[in-house]
Amino acid sequence: MVTHLTLLNFRNFEHLDQPISAGFTILAGENAQGKTSFLEALYWLSTARLLRGQRDSEAVRHGAAGCTAQATLEAGTTVAGALEVGARKKFFLNGASLPRAADIMGRIPTVCISMFDLSIVQGDPSDRRLFLDLELSALYPAYLRHFAAYKRALEQRNALLKMAQDRSVDPYAFEGWEEQLELHGAEMRRFRQEYLTALSTLAANVHAEMASREEVLSLRYFTKDSGASLAQTRHLDIARGSTQIGPHRDDVEVLIDGSEARLFGSQGQQRTAVISLKLATMEAWKDLLGVAPLLLLDDMLSDLDPVRRAKLCAVVSSRASQAVLTCTEATAAGSDILDIAQVLTVQNGTVRRA
Ligand SMILES: Nc1ncnc2c1ncn2[C@@H]1O[C@H](COP(=O)(O)OP(=O)(O)OP(=O)(O)O)[C@@H](O)[C@H]1O
Ligand SMILES: [Mg+2]
Repeated sequence: MVTHLTLLNFRNFEHLDQPISAGFTILAGENAQGKTSFLEALYWLSTARLLRGQRDSEAVRHGAAGCTAQATLEAGTTVAGALEVGARKKFFLNGASLPRAADIMGRIPTVCISMFDLSIVQGDPSDRRLFLDLELSALYPAYLRHFAAYKRALEQRNALLKMAQDRSVDPYAFEGWEEQLELHGAEMRRFRQEYLTALSTLAANVHAEMASREEVLSLRYFTKDSGASLAQTRHLDIARGSTQIGPHRDDVEVLIDGSEARLFGSQGQQRTAVISLKLATMEAWKDLLGVAPLLLLDDMLSDLDPVRRAKLCAVVSSRASQAVLTCTEATAAGSDILDIAQVLTVQNGTVRRA
């Protein structure tokens, strides 16, 4: 649980020193005041990434030389990040510098739902793989290790494939990397499939509570592999100059009543599917950690019809423990949450109690 957030030159916040409620916080305010930036700071401290996948330097307030963000957790632990323009970002746990940015992941378990997540349903397979990879890397350090080893072996094999287009390359050079790819690739798929199976059930439950009619949401892991080994596909891969099979080409199908939501879902259905999916990740974290992660909900209430909005608020208030929600009008949050939430008004990079 986060009890305090301090920002210096983060986006449009020159200086912020803000206690955060143990339960629900609503950040209300007009457009372009800093609501998303506030959430983004928490997201950055939890994932080492900015919300829109931007370069970290974008977070530094225009004209400043660097920015810092620090969250204080319930037990007094501090998690901080600092960035100077032109230098590498650094993260700190209780003031001690962490060797790698990725070491910060999972210190503040967080699930964030924003417009950018619509790409999970509407986007390319790479968007869905990114979703899975980020989730699994945050949940399981072992996944992150397999993922990193796989990525490295893939780069090496692809470089060899390109080389082999112009001159002969000793097959022996391929074998070591292919062995690595098959080993780590199988582990990645095992993690992904197990996680998706669990997520599919959780998402179906959440979706059933939120959808206006009986709709069944399900998730399916999808792989194009025919079962051939990399040694067998090597000559084809040389012709193409890249590795055509493996978890880096897999996909997730998001299905509503058995049809792909990407192709057949209405806007509202797609949005509800994404919210269900992300709330299901919150449940998956809860099952694994024993406590619900921090839930960040950016601007997800305004575009839903009143019935879905009320249902979303009911699902969130019954399942989340600590949550920060943004909306332009606090009343959009509905009485379930409004009655128990701390309402803060964000205006031009400052925050005050409503
Ligand atoms: N690095 C930066 N330095 C200074 N200002 C920035 C920086 N990055 C973004 N901003 C500005 O900060 C302001 C707040 O942006 P933010 O996305 O947090 O607004 P918001 O309150 O979420 O608005 P909306 O309701 O439109 O989503 C915007 O005017 C934006 O242009
Ligand atoms: Mg915003």
